[in-house]
This record gives sequence, C-alpha cells and structure tokens, in this order.
Amino acid sequence: MTDQAQSLRELVSAQVSDLSEITPKVSAKIITVSSGKGGVGKSNFTLNFALALKSMGKKVLVFDADIGMANIDVLMGVSSKFSLYHLLRKEKNIEEVIQYGPEGLPYIAGGSGIADMISLSENDLNYFISQIERISSEMDFIIFDTGAGLSKENMKFITSADQCLVVTTPEPTSITDAYALIKVVHGSDPDVQFSLVVNRAGDEVEARQAADKITFTSRRFLDLEIEMLGYVTDDPYVVKSVKRQIPFTLAFPKCEAARDVKRLALRYLAIPSAPESGPLTGIKGFMQRWLKRT
Ligand SMILES: Nc1ncnc2c1ncn2[C@@H]1O[C@H](COP(=O)(O)OP(=O)(O)OP(=O)(O)O)[C@@H](O)[C@H]1O
Ligand SMILES: [Mg+2]
Repeated sequence: MTDQAQSLRELVSAQVSDLSEITPKVSAKIITVSSGKGGVGKSNFTLNFALALKSMGKKVLVFDADIGMANIDVLMGVSSKFSLYHLLRKEKNIEEVIQYGPEGLPYIAGGSGIADMISLSENDLNYFISQIERISSEMDFIIFDTGAGLSKENMKFITSADQCLVVTTPEPTSITDAYALIKVVHGSDPDVQFSLVVNRAGDEVEARQAADKITFTSRRFLDLEIEMLGYVTDDPYVVKSVKRQIPFTLAFPKCEAARDVKRLALRYLAIPSAPESGPLTGIKGFMQRWLKRT
C-alpha cells in the first residue's frame, strides 16, 4: 500500500461523505455483467436487460467496460461521438459523454478510455468520482458490460460493484469458465454477490441443469450460495437483431429471447435489495472498493 494510494482513499472518503450530505437520495445499484468464456452473450444481454428495466420505469445507465473490444454502440446501430476516454481526459463532463441509444437508453461508450482509469492521477480521480456521483443519484441501476475472463480490469470492476451477473451458456466449457471466474473473484473478495444467467439455453430444463452444476460446485467447494436469476433461449432472432443492429427486445419484441429477458427483468425487480445496514452499496461503495484495490 503506497502513501499515494492511502491519501487517495482519504481524499475520496472525505469527498464521498461530503457529497452524500447534499445528495440524500439512495444512489444507483451497480451491476457488472461478466463471464468466464468470451462470446456467451454478455453485451446482448446487458443491452436488452437494460431496455427491459427501462420499459418497467427504471432509470438505467449502460456503461461499456469491455476494454479494447467495446461494442455496445455497434449493437444499437449508433455511433458515439464521445466516450469514457473524454471524461477521463476531462475534455467533457458526464452529461456530455452520456449518449442515447434506442428508446433513449443512456450509455457511456467504452472506447480506449478504460485502461487509463487504472492509473488515474489524484486530480483525475477526484473529477471522475464527482462526475459519476452526480449521475448516480439520478439512476436506479448502472450496468457495466465487462469483457470476458479475469483481466486485472475486469477483476476491479467486478469486485467494486454491488452485484455480478455471471452469464454462461449450457456448454461445458462455458460452465467451467464461469465457475473459474466465480472462484477467483470470491477468493479475492468474498463479499461479491453473484447471480447466474444462462444464455442460449434449449429450454428451461437445460438452463437449470447448467446452473445447478455451478450452484452445487460453489456450495460444495466455496461454501457460496449462487442462484440462477433466469435464462434466455437460444433464439435465431438474436442473430437477426445483431445483424440489423437493433436490440432484439425492440426489433422482435415477441421472440422467445425477448420474452425471457423481460421475465428475467421482472423477477430481478421483485427480488428485495440488500438491507441498508449491509456493506456500502451504490456509488459510494463502488468507489471505496475500487480504491481498496488501487
Ligand atoms: N440468446 C441467444 N440466441 C442466439 N444467439 C445468441 C444469443 N445470445 C448471443 N448470441 C450470439 O452470440 C454472439 C455474441 O454475443 P455477445 O456479443 O453479446 O457476446 P459477449 O459475451 O458480449 O462477447 P464478448 O466476450 O466478445 O464481449 C451474438 O452476436 C449472437 O450471434
Ligand atoms: Mg461483449
């Protein structure tokens, strides 16, 4: 632990508590959507889940946190003038880097900015935190679409957020990689809450079987309870929607995958949130946990 890291933590703690006095509203719940194996459907899930929550009256911000491979905007058929890069460079403020996708869905494009976030100066971090805090009090959920696997950056996002939705398909390689991710993250930070999303399932039975493997193994070897939040059917309309660059809940609202994501979002909203007396949640918790790992 360096002196610089310590002074950053103190600075941010002081700032976070100052801001909380003038912004009493509970801040957004921060979720990462992650996976062990790549290409399992995280970005499609993130977008459509966010759109489903939005259609249910929630305020959602999507944050493309996939370093190097950011593509949330491509899936929406929009191009982003500004990204996180401009925010970190202090070239733009948060309102300016937030872009709007279909249905007015707010998002922050990834670009090449994220790598810089790992080594921000004290001054930069100060600005970044104040910007995120500002927007956080206006949101119900901030959803980070991360890259696959256990990169340093992914670990930082996952262990800083309130919850990690782990996406897997029913393929054995995807399941073992999802379990590996959970094991390493849990070993590094036992407070991270996980839920499973089984994507590209043939049917509910296949989804449950896949989820059960992770649930049982986590219970047995990690003493950790992980539930399946829901599943999304393997649906050719998803591929069609990717080609059209329109999220499938909008392009084909009646397709099976759209129905599944909407059901999953309803279920998600029905699950009670963590008690207020628990560990710090929202942006304050996010930033404190982020700094713990600086
Ligand atoms: N439910 C589904 N049914 C059918 N195909 C799907 C489904 N979900 C995803 N796909 C296919 O998988 C591809 C990859 O999806 P996506 O880009 O969302 O994965 P990802 O996990 O974000 O990938 P990466 O790890 O590269 O970020 C899609 O382009 C689509 O062809
Ligand atoms: Mg992706």
